Amino acid sequence: MSPRPDASGVPRRRLRRVAPLSALAVAVPLAFAAAGSGAPARADATRPAAGYTYPYQDPSRRVADRVSDLLGRMSLDDKVGQMTQAERGAISTADVTTYRVGSILSGGGSAPSPNTPAGWADMYDSFQRAAVATPLGIPMIYGLDAVHGNNNVYGSTIFPHNIGLGATRDPALVQQIGRATAEEVTGAGLDWTFAPCLCVARNDRWGRTYESFGETPELASSMTTVITGLQGPTLASPASILATAKHYVGDGGTTGGRDQGDTQVSEQELRAIHLPPFKAAVDRGVGSIMVSYSSWNGVKMHGNRYLLTDVLKGELGFKGFLVSDWAAIDQLDGASGFTQQEVTTAINAGLDMIMVPNDYRTFISYLKAAVQSGAVPTSRIDDAVSRILTKKFELGLFEHPYADRSYAQTVGSQAHRDLARQAVRESQVLLKNAGGILPLSRTGGKIFVAGKNADDIGNSSGGWTISWQGRSGNIVPGTTILQGIRSAVGSGGTVTYSRDGSGIDSSYRAAIAVVGETPYAEGQGDRTGAMGLDSTDLATLQRLKASGVPVVTVLVSGRPLDIAAQLPDWRALVASWLPGSEGAGVADVLFGGYNPTGKLPVTWPAGTSQEPINSGDGKIGLFPYGYGLNY
Ligand code: GLC
Repeated sequence: MSPRPDASGVPRRRLRRVAPLSALAVAVPLAFAAAGSGAPARADATRPAAGYTYPYQDPSRRVADRVSDLLGRMSLDDKVGQMTQAERGAISTADVTTYRVGSILSGGGSAPSPNTPAGWADMYDSFQRAAVATPLGIPMIYGLDAVHGNNNVYGSTIFPHNIGLGATRDPALVQQIGRATAEEVTGAGLDWTFAPCLCVARNDRWGRTYESFGETPELASSMTTVITGLQGPTLASPASILATAKHYVGDGGTTGGRDQGDTQVSEQELRAIHLPPFKAAVDRGVGSIMVSYSSWNGVKMHGNRYLLTDVLKGELGFKGFLVSDWAAIDQLDGASGFTQQEVTTAINAGLDMIMVPNDYRTFISYLKAAVQSGAVPTSRIDDAVSRILTKKFELGLFEHPYADRSYAQTVGSQAHRDLARQAVRESQVLLKNAGGILPLSRTGGKIFVAGKNADDIGNSSGGWTISWQGRSGNIVPGTTILQGIRSAVGSGGTVTYSRDGSGIDSSYRAAIAVVGETPYAEGQGDRTGAMGLDSTDLATLQRLKASGVPVVTVLVSGRPLDIAAQLPDWRALVASWLPGSEGAGVADVLFGGYNPTGKLPVTWPAGTSQEPINSGDGKIGLFPYGYGLNY
C-alpha cells in the first residue's frame, strides 16, 4: 500500500527540516553517495547519510540511535511538549507549534465538521503541519477511542462491543476486527486508538461491563489478539496503528462495581485476576497503556509508582509509553483541577504522557518547574520522551507524517460489514429454547416483532458511538435487527412491527421481543439499584404475554440483566449484547442462518442481589459462565 502521502496528496519526499544549530548540533559535512550507487552513503555513527541534516532524520538508522540523537538535541520545552496531550477542541494549531505539543486527542464524540473520513484527515493534517513546523520537526500522534470500530467517524463499521466479542470465544475473529478497525482509523487519517479495554469485569453493576471481554483473566487475555490486528506485523506496516491496553490495573474490580472506584483486593488477587491481560498485551508488544482512574486499596493508580514502574515497566518489561486517562491526575489530591504536586507525583510514578486535556499551558509550566526544581529528575523526563519517540519512529511518522487517504474506501466497506455481521452471529448466546421454537421458519404464518430495541441502531450500538454516551435512534448507517428479520423472512412470510406490542393477536405464530438497555458510557452506566428491565419493556412484554403467542426474547444490553421473573413467560431467550451496525447477524441466528455458538462471557445472576457473581465464587446464578445452547 502506498506510503502516507504529504498534505498535498503527493507521496512525501524525504524532506529534511533544517533545525537551527543548537549548542549540541554540529554542522557536519554531508556524506556523498558513492559514485553510481544512487543510494545514500552509509553514515558513520556521527555523520548522517546523504540527504539528511541530522542522524535522527535518517530512517536507515536503528530506532534507538535515532531516539538518542534526537533526545540529545531537545530542549526542556521540546521534551515536556512531547509528554503533553491536548484535546482537539482545546488547542489551536498555532499553540501546537508554540508549545511543541506532541499529541492531540479526540474525546468521545469530539469530531471535526464535516464528520467524514476526509474531514478527519484534513483536521489531522492541519495539526500535523503545525507539529512538524517546530524546530526539530517532531510529528504529533493523534489518539481517539476506536473501541468497536472507528466509532467516532460517521459511516464507520460499528462492531459488537467487547462483551459480545468475548461471547464468541474466537480470538482469530477478534484479530481480524482489529485489522479492519486499523484500516478504518487509517482511512480517517489517524494513527492511535485507546483500545482494547482489557478490564476484567467482576461486578455487572459497572457501567463499563460491556467494554470488558468478560469476567475471567483468561478470556480477556485470549482476546489480546486484537492488538496484533491493530498494530499489524510492525507498526510501520501499511494501516498499522498504535494500540492501547486499558485501564491499568483493576478497573473492573472496584467495590460495588463503582466506576473509578476502589479495588479492595489483596495483591495476590490483583495479580491473579486483573494483571494477566496486561502481561498478555505487553507480550504482544502493545505500544501504549492507559492508566486507570480507579484506586487499589485506597491508592490512586495514577500515583502508584509500584504498579506503574516496578511491576509494569520493571517486572513485565513494558517498553511502550504510559498515558494518563482524561484529566485523571486532577483526582490525585481529591480537589478539582491539577497542581504542580499532582503533576510531579504522576510523572514520578511512571506516567509518560498526560491526557491533560484542556489546560495544557499550565501543565507544561508545572512540569518544567518540577524539573527545574529537581522534583522530577531529568532522567525520568528522558525515559518518558524516549518511550514516546520510539513509538513515533516505529510508526514511521517522521517519514510519513500525513494522513494516508488511500484507506478511506475501507471505511464502512462491505467487507468490513460482512466481518461485523459474522461477529454478531458468533456473539449471540442462546440461553433458552423451549420446544425448539428456534430457529424460526422463514416461511408460513405471520411473525410479530416488538420492543424498543428492535428498530434502533443507536440502542444496538450502545455507548462510544458517534458521541461519548451514544444515543437512541438512527445514528449510523447499517441494519437494525428488525431490518434483518424482514430480510430473513423475505416474501415467504409477513413481519409486523409494533414498538410497544400493541396490535398483537393470536393469529401470529411467534412474537420476537427485542428489549434491553439504552446507550450509556462509563459511570453514567453504573446501576446501583435494581438491574431488571425497564417499565417500557415490561409493558411490551405483558402485551405479548396476554396474546398467548409464543415469545422469543432478544436482550440487547451491555451486561446480564435481572430477568429471572420474566424468563418463564418466554419460549426462548437470546443474549445479543450490543451488536452494533450489523443487526442482520441476529436474524441469521433466529432464522437458522447460523447455528448459535456463543458462550456466556459472564455469569448470569439469578437476581441483582447476587452481584458480584463470578465463576468459581460458589454462587449459583441463573446461567453459568460459559453457558450457551445450540440447535
Ligand atoms: C475516558 C475513558 C477512557 C478514554 C479516555 C479518552 O474518560 O476512561 O477509556 O480512552 O477518556 O476518551
